[in-house]
This record gives sequence, structure tokens and C-alpha cells, in this order.
Amino acid sequence: MSTFDYQNGRLHAESVCLSDLADQVDTPFYCYSASALEHRYRRLAEAISASGTTIAYAVKANSNLAVVSLLGGLGSGADVVSEGELRRAMAAGIPADRILFSGVGKSVDELAFAIGEGIHQINIESETEFDRVLDLAQRAVRTVRIALRINPGIEAGGHDKISTGRKTDKFGISAGHALELYRRAEKHAFVEPVGLAMHIGSQISDVSAFAGAFDYLAEATDDMRRKGLTVSRLDLGGGLGVAYHDDEQELPLEDYGALLKSLALRTDAQLTIEPGRWLVAGAGVLVTRVNAIKQAGDRRFVIVDAAMNDLIRPTLYDAHHPVWPVDNHEDAALHPSTVAGPVCESGDILAFDAPLPGLAAGDLVTVGHAGAYGAVMSSGYNGRLLVPEVLVRGDDFAVVRRRPSHDEAMALESIPEWSSATAAA
Ligand code: LLP
Repeated sequence: MSTFDYQNGRLHAESVCLSDLADQVDTPFYCYSASALEHRYRRLAEAISASGTTIAYAVKANSNLAVVSLLGGLGSGADVVSEGELRRAMAAGIPADRILFSGVGKSVDELAFAIGEGIHQINIESETEFDRVLDLAQRAVRTVRIALRINPGIEAGGHDKISTGRKTDKFGISAGHALELYRRAEKHAFVEPVGLAMHIGSQISDVSAFAGAFDYLAEATDDMRRKGLTVSRLDLGGGLGVAYHDDEQELPLEDYGALLKSLALRTDAQLTIEPGRWLVAGAGVLVTRVNAIKQAGDRRFVIVDAAMNDLIRPTLYDAHHPVWPVDNHEDAALHPSTVAGPVCESGDILAFDAPLPGLAAGDLVTVGHAGAYGAVMSSGYNGRLLVPEVLVRGDDFAVVRRRPSHDEAMALESIPEWSSATAAA
């Protein structure tokens, strides 16, 4: 069984018909497949098993508790970048000693919370943060294991905005600076420097970018060890690319696994990777209903009820997501159709010139490969409600995040008495 395919002329998620689901949940909504998540996790775990590498799922890609819990149940740890994600990982049942804290701007409170929970490792990205951790560890009288994130000066990633390993990116520190901080940490009573970390970018499909970065990391490790420092863990970040287009290639997993194996042999370090997108992107779709069809010049618009606030990737990164009609019009002629949402911005486009049959208002379409960086990046722009998330397994489904009511969406706001027109009068 493939995850999202047509059965009796209608698109299904596993054995659940998306049209039936739309009747019950109302559109728009995200739908994830539990079997697809499991399949992806197992495939990756298998491909990297020879290197003994551990997986810490990058929670930022999809932080729904049900998704994190499912991956945690398969053995994944978590890579988190905020107190919110750390709390989510723990609420989803991932033990603190399998959680890594990454991120370029952790606050004092966030660091104190993570230290209090006794997490596996904190990845340090600046000297300011380093000093904070030393201070907090001392005060907590608690051993804190840290890794220093180094920036290899490598250009990688599917888009300028998701490339993170260039010298001028805000992430990490230089290898020289890491060496200096490592030495300071080794003298500290409560901070144990355990290794180095790196993340060069996202949506990388060319394995040679990883090869270059891993070489850099291995050399930095050798150099530190020659200077008498103990480097026992290497965190290699995420970035594994997926195919959003039929003509695109995923990162070749076997080659990636082979690289990890040679790095493990060369360094004898405990390796960890932090994949996000690769595990969840293909396991999710955004289901939306056609609101209107219109022609603007020579462009045919399919206006749907999902918008850029629900899935911002096309607008923000010019990302391609395939669009599939829920009803299979097998023999129908396909027309290039630009799928747009109701938000008042010309950039509110989910797909340009998608080949779609002649749809009518009320028809359903799905935006594919939307499981990663979809729901997590959504907002309430234009007074729109965050959309539900549904998890399917076989012929079962559960709403794993419900749609809030408008009252709930407004509940955190208030109008101060002094700001009203009557108070001013
Ligand atoms: N580790 C660190 C330190 C990261 O910064 C990231 C992603 C990951 C792991 C996971 O990377 P992945 O395996 O998912 O490529 N919103 C963008 C992607 C931003 C990625 C940010 N960092 C998008 O929708 O394409």
C-alpha cells in the first residue's frame, strides 16, 4: 500500500478516503500517515545502522505531539531549538537524556530549564551562550554536557534562506574559537565538553556537500585530539533532502549511510544526526476545498480555502509542492492552474501552473509533501484559524490538533480600557 493513492477513484491516506475525512473534519486540514512516518524512520535507521549513528528528530519540522511521540516510540531522540520544543518532546514521551538543544539564540531561562531537566547535550553557538551555560551549571551544581557548533564555511541547501554553513551565516563559531572555548570548558567543574556539532543547511540532495562538511569536522576533531582534548560525540545536524518534484532526486541514502560509516571509523566518535524534513515531509498533505475558479488574463486560478498562512513554503522559498485532485479525473484534460488562497496578498499562491483537471467550486484538492515545515510555520494572518491536523493509520484516524474556535483564537487578547474611544472622549 502506498501512503497517498487513489482507491475507487478517490485519493486516500492509507485506507481513509480524504473526501470522507473532509466531511468530518472540514477543510482545510493537514493529514499525516502514521505508516509513512514509521516507514521513513525505519528506512533511515536501517541505512545508517552500520555507523552506530543515533537519530535525534528535528522537532521543528513537525512538532505535533502525536508525530513526535510516534517517532520517539520508534527510538528517535529529539533535537529542539526552544523551551517550547523541549517541553513538546518531553510531553511526547522522549526522555530528557535523548534530547539535544540546538539553536543560535537560547535565552537564560531556556538554558536553565534545559539544565534542570538534565538533557543529553546542549549545542553551543556563541561565546555569550557558552558563558551563560558555565554560570548556570555552576549555580545548578549539575554536570552539563556541551558540544560546540562549528561553522565549516560550506554552501549547501536548497535555498538561500535555508543554507546555514556559510562563513557569514549567523550559525556556529569558527573551529579556532571552538578550540579556545573547549579548553576553557575542560577546566570547569560542571561543564563537560563532549564534542562538536554542525548543521550546514536544509534540503540537501547532493551527498558531496555532506562529504565536505564531514571531512572538515573530522579534521577539526583530529586537531583537537592532537591538542589533548577529548572529543567523543559528533552531531552532524540534519539537512537530508527530499523530492518535491517527480523529476527531483532525494538524497541518496545509501551514499549518505556510507559517509557516516567512514566518519565513524575515522573518528571512533558517537555520531548523531538531526533529520527533520526527510522523516515527515512526504508523510503529510494539506487538504483544501476549491472556493472559486477564475481567469485573470491568461492565468487560470483555482482559489482554495487554504492559504499562505497555512503553508508558507511556496511564498517564502518559492518551494514547489505538487497538487492532486481528490477525485481522480483519469481521462480529463489537464489545465495549468495556479492554486491560490483567500489571503489578501498576490504572493498567496500554493502552486503555480499545476496540471489540474477542470475543477469546480466545492471540489477537493491536496497539496502534497506538506508534512514538514507546514503546520509548524502557520499563522493566524487575515484572522484565519490554525487548521486541524489529522493522523491516519490504516482505516483509523484521529484529530491530533483540533481547529480552535474564533473565541479561542481571540482569548489571549484584550482591549485596555484607556484605549477605547469612550475613554478618550
Ligand atoms: N538541525 C538544525 C540545527 C537545524 O537548524 C535544522 C533545520 C535541522 C536540524 C533539520 O533540518 P532538516 O533535516 O529538516 O533539513 N523552513 C525551512 C527549513 C528550515 C530548516 C531550519 N533548520 C523549509 O521549509 O524548507
